[in-house]
Amino acid sequence: MRILMVCLGNICRSPLAEGIMKHKAASYGLDWQVDSAGTGSWHTGELPDRRSIAIARAKGIDITDQRARQFRHSDFEQFDHIFVMDTNNMTDVLRLASQKAHHDKVTLIRDLTHPGQRRSVPDPYYDDNGFEEVFQMLDEACEVFVRQHVAAP
Ligand code: 4NP
Repeated sequence: MRILMVCLGNICRSPLAEGIMKHKAASYGLDWQVDSAGTGSWHTGELPDRRSIAIARAKGIDITDQRARQFRHSDFEQFDHIFVMDTNNMTDVLRLASQKAHHDKVTLIRDLTHPGQRRSVPDPYYDDNGFEEVFQMLDEACEVFVRQHVAAP
């Protein structure tokens, strides 16, 4: 399974999503490839936001190996599932899609917990207190996805 997490800057939300999904996959013994990217390029090469690093660390997840990069068209081929954080990310990613198979790979990550409700993970960049809530939303969504792929005991 190859999963790509996408947000705007690739420094706040999608690095958390990547870290959480990797952590859960490993804990369930799943050999998955998980990466993240931003629709924008402003932060290319940067570490995740210090507030994302801190909340992840508080939950026992190290995301300091990550560096931001921009989403690229070849990601549609490189990944099986592309999870976007909000509807703006969805629009930006789908604008680059050139075939139905690409469209079909793109999902709002909160559709995992709230199917059909088109909920977004709010951008916490200007809200120091938003990171805990973002972590919880992503943790619940990743848990649903991993459980969907773990064989029933
Ligand atoms: P992210 O948050 O999309 O969750 O990484 C943002 C980070 C930076 C900016 C916007 C959103 N920015 O405009 O620089």
